[in-house]
Amino acid sequence: MEHFVVKGEVTLEGEVVTSGAKNSSVAILPAALMAGSPVTVENLPLIDDIFTLIELIEYLGAEVKTNGSGSITIYPQKLQRWEAPYELVSKLRASYYFLGSLLTRFKKAVIPLPGGCPLGPRPIDQHIKGFRALGARVGIQHGSIRIEAEQLTGTEIYLDVVSVGATINLMLAAVTAQGKTLLENVAKEPEIVDIANFLNAIGANIVGAGTDEIKITGVKELGGTSHMVIPDRIEAGTFILAAASTNGRVLIKDIIPKHLESLTAKLKELGVDLEVGEDWVYVKGCPCPQPINIKTFPYPGFPTDLQALIMPVMTKAKGSSVITENVFEGRFKHVDELKRMGANIRVDGRSAIVEGGCSLSGAQVRATDLRAGAALMIAGMLAKGETVISGIEHIDRGYEKIEEKLNSLGAGIKRVKQE
Ligand code: EPZ
Repeated sequence: MEHFVVKGEVTLEGEVVTSGAKNSSVAILPAALMAGSPVTVENLPLIDDIFTLIELIEYLGAEVKTNGSGSITIYPQKLQRWEAPYELVSKLRASYYFLGSLLTRFKKAVIPLPGGCPLGPRPIDQHIKGFRALGARVGIQHGSIRIEAEQLTGTEIYLDVVSVGATINLMLAAVTAQGKTLLENVAKEPEIVDIANFLNAIGANIVGAGTDEIKITGVKELGGTSHMVIPDRIEAGTFILAAASTNGRVLIKDIIPKHLESLTAKLKELGVDLEVGEDWVYVKGCPCPQPINIKTFPYPGFPTDLQALIMPVMTKAKGSSVITENVFEGRFKHVDELKRMGANIRVDGRSAIVEGGCSLSGAQVRATDLRAGAALMIAGMLAKGETVISGIEHIDRGYEKIEEKLNSLGAGIKRVKQE
């Protein structure tokens, strides 16, 4: 096991480049197994979730050629397995996308129930409801989801909950279903648009991704393509918040500003001096953070994935801030860890009240999920003294070379092997 030792009281300066979007990539790779010809994916983030997915794809029988610098080519022709192994599936939540993709390719799949971050209950009832509506039989036994269908037939599906995963999985399953499928009350995240663009590039017929309704007209066969993954808006937001929290001057490059509008709007309220360019954001400091109130919502609302990351700077604000987590129950596990560093935060139901005027002090803390882990890195950079963060395997699942990128901006983070 490894941990991070984070030097406190640093100010970040310099420039950093965002990697490709994790939450696009972890869906596009399983989706590539539906293709009829080779698929090249560029700008993949070099993170553990991607390495695990590549292992899974090779286990299922497809060939994968690593072209270097975040580019791989998948040859799906030799795919012959439709059951995935627990030891790989349990490492990441996104393994459930193999349900939609293998159902389309083989009309059957057996996938162990997904793993992933402990953000409270993470049911997949909306995925199952949609698969059944398309004509599949779905059973859960011995900890695995077994799904099969003679024929998938287009239909109308209204999601009870706005779910990124269900939206994507049902898009995958509807691509070669007979006739038209209308998905309503769907998630509108930019990653969904990215995946729909990839699917259309291999021959699917999908209209409306990024809106409340997605129309899919089933097609007979799918080809290959070469696809560039969009920049990771959550990684970009992480670096923007790290820069603002340390009152630094940092240029974050290779972003799509539109994807971060809910964050940049809030940062202005927070008192961050910010310049937004065509594909970059320049943070020019935040000398006097103001208390703000945040409510997380599905896109285009404030992202739940940045909720933990904005907490550290709130501990410095002049007054108390309130964060309401509307997407996940139980996504406040990082609060106890921040309190070990001296933060004064009270959780009341779905809200956390963060008292300002605190000076954090370095402590031994544990990352409970990847975004909580990144938030502890930011808190460690603010704190007096050193912070030791364990559980950093969570961070490595979703951030490419995070300590290298932060150290290039002046942070002092060491990755240490635990005896
Ligand atoms: C995706 O998770 C992301 N993960 C999460 O990012 C992100 O926080 C989340 O979307 C919300 O934006 C990936 O894309 C791999 P949901 P997902 O289905 O798809 C409930 C990160 O940090 N729900 O949109 O699992 C669910 O319990 C990760 O990168 C049902 O009730 O999230 C939650 O309360 C963490 N039934 C809400 O919907 C279902 O069938 C949103 O979940 C599905 C979801």
